[in-house]
Amino acid sequence: MNSSRCLAAAAVAGTLLAAGAPLSQGREAKGLQRTIQLPKPSTEGAVSVEKAIQRRRSVRGFGERPLTLAQASQLLWSAQGVTEAKKGLRSAPSAGACYPLEAYLVAGAVDGLAPGVYRYSPRGHLLALLSEGDARARLKEKGRTQQMIGRAPATIVVSADLGRIRPRYRDRAERYTHMEAGHAGQNVSLQAEALGLGTVMVGAFDDAGVKNALGLPSGETPLYLIPIGVPGN
Ligand SMILES: Cc1cc2nc3c(=O)[nH]c(=O)nc-3n(C[C@H](O)[C@H](O)[C@H](O)COP(=O)(O)O)c2cc1C
Repeated sequence: MNSSRCLAAAAVAGTLLAAGAPLSQGREAKGLQRTIQLPKPSTEGAVSVEKAIQRRRSVRGFGERPLTLAQASQLLWSAQGVTEAKKGLRSAPSAGACYPLEAYLVAGAVDGLAPGVYRYSPRGHLLALLSEGDARARLKEKGRTQQMIGRAPATIVVSADLGRIRPRYRDRAERYTHMEAGHAGQNVSLQAEALGLGTVMVGAFDDAGVKNALGLPSGETPLYLIPIGVPGN
């Protein structure tokens, strides 16, 4: 498979999503907006990349303040947003531009967004509702009861569909996918720092439990949980 086929596969996934195709075997959303157009991400900020690197620390205590929709938008864009529209290239590098990663937002307290599990569509920079209701307690339970998962206003979940990258990279596909999750995670960490927010990268969780709790598609594996919020106690 060449890289343009990888890109085409990623684009088709995005198109299905934008059309409101069924995404989950979880609870169906009723009476809630199924797709939410996110505010346009900013490409300028007050904090230099050097400052963000210097200041970044894992944050495990979060205050009560919700995230704004603009912050959620910016964070998702930093993880997997499209930064080159023509070819659909993204904020984080991807081996052969196969883009095996997906980003989900588990929103509990995000202004302007009903609590729920949302899938991020890089192409349209939009969210698609997977299931309604606050899933933070379920996610915390499957995340070895790490309290910050329940307390953070939102968590970005990075998952992977290895089927998009295996045909091209075979026995190196898994390794490359894990590297990509690291790139996406670091982007989110630094973006959060630049926004005055805190994050911690969570790798200790029950894979099948998280997948089930969030209703992720059968072909995907969750790789990272990234709780995000305003630092506090
Ligand atoms: C792959 C990976 C998995 C991690 N998993 C967890 C985790 O499950 N829970 C947690 O509290 N911190 C987790 N961390 C955060 C580390 O504990 C943290 O980065 C480390 O203590 C260094 O501190 P710093 O991030 O402030 O530099 C993880 C970090 C990485 C890179």
